[in-house]
Amino acid sequence: MNILFIGDVFGEVGRNLLKKYLAKIKDTYEIDFTIVNGENTTHGKGINQRHYYELLDLGIDCVTMGNHTFDQSDIVNWMDEESCLIRPANLSRRANGVGTNVFNINGYKIQVTNILGRVFYGGIINHPIEVMEDIIKASDADIHIVDFHGDATAEKISFGYEFDGQVSAVLGTHTHVQTADERILDHGSAYISDVGMCGPFNQCIGMDKQNVVLKMKDGLPHKFEPGKEPGILCGVVIRFTIDSQVKSIERINLSPLNNYEI
Ligand SMILES: [Fe+2]
Repeated sequence: MNILFIGDVFGEVGRNLLKKYLAKIKDTYEIDFTIVNGENTTHGKGINQRHYYELLDLGIDCVTMGNHTFDQSDIVNWMDEESCLIRPANLSRRANGVGTNVFNINGYKIQVTNILGRVFYGGIINHPIEVMEDIIKASDADIHIVDFHGDATAEKISFGYEFDGQVSAVLGTHTHVQTADERILDHGSAYISDVGMCGPFNQCIGMDKQNVVLKMKDGLPHKFEPGKEPGILCGVVIRFTIDSQVKSIERINLSPLNNYEI
């Protein structure tokens, strides 16, 4: 079993990167199951239904979310019908959607869970570790992939250590900057602090850099727009043994720096 996880898909540039490179990546790495974090798919903010189906049509099996889950407010009208869409599990129990789900792939039960970090995040959310403990108690999955969507590296790595050996992988998302700390932890879980982004390269984590820098300088409101091409596509491939143990975690990073070489 080989699982591909692609970091936060950002706007049109991110969607175009997937159209151009996903099939070749899946082919090259012999991918059986593909997850993307899709919380920035529509203009950098949330995901609308059209773009969600666009991702599924490209061959993506599961879309995880994060702090921008409800930015496209219409999502509450359709997300309950979509079993491949996973929003953070540690939101209010009144929130639409599900925070974890199981996919049956080639005889394996693959569970995907989305957790939102609390550091630097102002929303009202439940304790990431306590919510994860409950999900694990109820799980009988062969493989369990956790997208930990958060800002702080320390929070992510602490979460990774806490659940090392209890889940197959803790994969960080949200910062849009890929970290180079991918590894297999002591008890067998794959880990990376941040998978990175699938979106505009040479911009401010997806947004056009000009107005972001202006805001940094003068503190005044400036409209942020998604950056233009070229793009960067970041992800990881996790390979499993026949008995669902993690064999390896490998980073993918396609950009103008390597001529998008797969
Ligand atoms: Fe985010």
